[in-house]
Amino acid sequence: MHLAVLGATGAVGRTMLAVLAERGLAVDRLTLLASERSAGERVQWGGREWTVEVPRPGVFRGVDYALFSAGATRSREWGPVAAEEGAVVVDNSSAFRMDPDVPLVVPEVNLAAARDRPRGIIANPNCSTIQVVVALQALHRAGGLRRVLATTYQSVSGAGETGRSTLRRENAGEGLTLPRVAQPVEGSPFARRIAGNVIPQIGDFDDEGWTGEERKIMEETRKILGLPGLAVAATCVRVPVEVGHSVQVMVETERELSAEAARRAMALFPGILLQGGPEAYPTPWEAAGRDPVFVGRIRKDPEVPNTLHFWVVADNLRKGAATNAVQIVQGLRGG
Ligand SMILES: NC(=O)c1ccc[n+]([C@@H]2O[C@H](COP(=O)([O-])OP(=O)(O)OC[C@H]3O[C@@H](n4cnc5c(N)ncnc54)[C@H](OP(=O)(O)O)[C@@H]3O)[C@@H](O)[C@H]2O)c1
Repeated sequence: MHLAVLGATGAVGRTMLAVLAERGLAVDRLTLLASERSAGERVQWGGREWTVEVPRPGVFRGVDYALFSAGATRSREWGPVAAEEGAVVVDNSSAFRMDPDVPLVVPEVNLAAARDRPRGIIANPNCSTIQVVVALQALHRAGGLRRVLATTYQSVSGAGETGRSTLRRENAGEGLTLPRVAQPVEGSPFARRIAGNVIPQIGDFDDEGWTGEERKIMEETRKILGLPGLAVAATCVRVPVEVGHSVQVMVETERELSAEAARRAMALFPGILLQGGPEAYPTPWEAAGRDPVFVGRIRKDPEVPNTLHFWVVADNLRKGAATNAVQIVQGLRGG
């Protein structure tokens, strides 16, 4: 198989190369693409050395799958080109996610949708959405979904390499002038200082006060689950964690589900690793570097009928991006 990775030098791109190697996909040719900044860089993969190139017309000819993780602008520019040149594009950006002609795929939930791709493009959902919908689908099958409320605690690597380096620089004391002014360091992708802080803003605010990230979770969840009428609301928060997103979810089901029935449904669902018992909950530190969606703290609401609460954690660079994309390729190739 000939595989291209656009954004190969970034946080997600490098994780893709690691996941591809771990899963032993039969890749005999790699085309690694990034910006001018990285052109000429050499990367060891599969016992060979590959040179990073800048994308140009014709570069996707002969490519079977093109995995994109270079941001929405680059995806809009190169996605249609790669598809036209014959590659199946799996895009990690937000560029095509809500396009009705582009399937939005989480293999454990709706792999079949990836086979119907009129534009030759498959979209990988937003990182927080992926881990939430895996858990939601388990409950949907068991009791039907009526309403979802999600509050996220998202790591800085969700904003790429710059997010990670910003936290490290601020932790090292850079940019700290007045103790009570949360001014971020220069070049930070965050609206406030992130070290020692939490920021209830990921993306820009719309006229109704929702952020871009919150809208993504709300809209993408409905599309992936195929439930256009599902009530979903989200609050997205950036926290000073390097890798791993955590989400607290409240869900109202159509039918009454005991906590035990919900635990059973989660435990049996592919891709979920359930932590049992009130003290055995997952944290991002433990989820980082691993592929499953970790679920814990499943409990019934003490007052409101048909309502459950749970905690879900996953590595945003892996299941939230690279692993999900590689699973789509594996699923389409039948293994
Ligand atoms: N981080 C996450 O948890 C996560 C999760 C899901 C989806 N995503 C999405 O994945 C994409 C990449 O995220 P990331 O976190 O990996 O970002 P990143 O660490 O900033 O990496 C960006 C990559 O894009 C390349 N790039 C930038 N400008 C380019 C250009 N003009 N032409 C070609 N390549 C270019 C960069 O190359 P250079 O190294 O040469 O600059 C780098 O390889 C984004 O769309 C993001 O929304 C990220």
